[in-house]
Amino acid sequence: MSRVLIRGGRVLDPANDHDAVADVLIEEDRVLEVGPDLSAENAEVVEAAGKWVAPGFVDLHVHLREPGLEYKEDLASGGRAAVAGGFTSICCMANTDPVNDDPSVTKYILDRAAKDSPARIFPIAAATRRLAGEVMTEMSALKDAGAVAFSDDGETIMDAAVMRSVLEYSKLVDAPVVIHAEDCGLRADGVVNEGRMSTRLGLPGNPVEAEEIHVARDIRLARLTGARLHVGHVSSGGSVGLIRQAKEEGLSVTAEVTPHHLSLTEEVTEGFDTSTKMAPPLRTQGDVETLRKALADGVIDCVATDHAPHATYEKDVEFTAAPCGVLGLETAFGVVNDMVRQGEISPLELMRRMSTTPARIFGLEGGSLSSGSVADLVLLDPETVWVYDPTEGFSKSRNSPWGGSELTGQVFATFVAGRLVYQAGRGVLVR
Ligand code: DOR
Ligand code: ZN
Repeated sequence: MSRVLIRGGRVLDPANDHDAVADVLIEEDRVLEVGPDLSAENAEVVEAAGKWVAPGFVDLHVHLREPGLEYKEDLASGGRAAVAGGFTSICCMANTDPVNDDPSVTKYILDRAAKDSPARIFPIAAATRRLAGEVMTEMSALKDAGAVAFSDDGETIMDAAVMRSVLEYSKLVDAPVVIHAEDCGLRADGVVNEGRMSTRLGLPGNPVEAEEIHVARDIRLARLTGARLHVGHVSSGGSVGLIRQAKEEGLSVTAEVTPHHLSLTEEVTEGFDTSTKMAPPLRTQGDVETLRKALADGVIDCVATDHAPHATYEKDVEFTAAPCGVLGLETAFGVVNDMVRQGEISPLELMRRMSTTPARIFGLEGGSLSSGSVADLVLLDPETVWVYDPTEGFSKSRNSPWGGSELTGQVFATFVAGRLVYQAGRGVLVR
């Protein structure tokens, strides 16, 4: 019987409102006990003094590019980037080639992930065929194949009647629907936030209204249908007010925010660096402040990276021609830990937003250190200062806006199902 004792760390277990120095004893793939001075008998000991010990991070929004676009990322490299970033479970979007709109694709992803990835991978299936926003997918068959949620992410479902049907059927299969809220007409060929920077740089703008109109529409459709609506990558402060109202009304509406929308503004696009181009775009300082407050007070439920790898040759083109998206998995904690350092959120609540709450939204195991729960854990060095170099990362791609940036807070170790799968300085230890 394999036993691991993680000794003397600051154990942050949001599921049990636990924030105190303690030991964590793991047996096989489960947490056996959390408490002071546990016996190390027959256990391998990991000294964790000065570190945070938390349930592994759960990311509801990543792009892993397999099948079809493996030159950007695959389930193996994405899974390695995940555990290096402290993520033990990641949920991959359907905009692969072929699109994950058929149970055969869902099963393929799960089979390959089980063989190739040190992180748990959960497929999100398309809501409409080929992400075209016209004909619904076979949600029940996709759910049976292992899909945990439905989304056309990358594309917006423009037809409200189609969206209504998607929400109605999602209720029947009891799965959440993740929206990519960007009105195609208003967004047009916009590549940066519409406002000061789009004017200054002479780039086509994408207004916050493109997002807010769809957040408002889909909240109303969630009210009409009673379905579980999850708002992907909120970028606009205006969306936060709509989500707050929906929650006050008691609707089943949840929301996520990315590390980039929490920390960067449109100003970083000054130098036309295509690693600052993503959809939705970076907004203003006011939006960033509203998003940070919303994450702290829980109106925005969780952090999701929207990890979106693209090859260097694809990004090394003029700004308007580059694909949207930035890496997120390996820098997420170092970026959002700034909120703890600035006193905007407690360590326990940050862990809740990165682990316990996202696990609950999709109904995944994890997010808890209760005895008997899966032994998915992350150990963090909250004070360690490091410089991120994407060329040394585990992702196949390099398109990060934080390349060369100093971040404070580093992943020390990651356990999946009781196995040490990543350790700082040693790298990914399995597969
Ligand atoms: O920036 C983005 N990149 N936003 C999306 O919605 C899609 C994603 C991608 O697939 O690259
Ligand atoms: Zn996405």
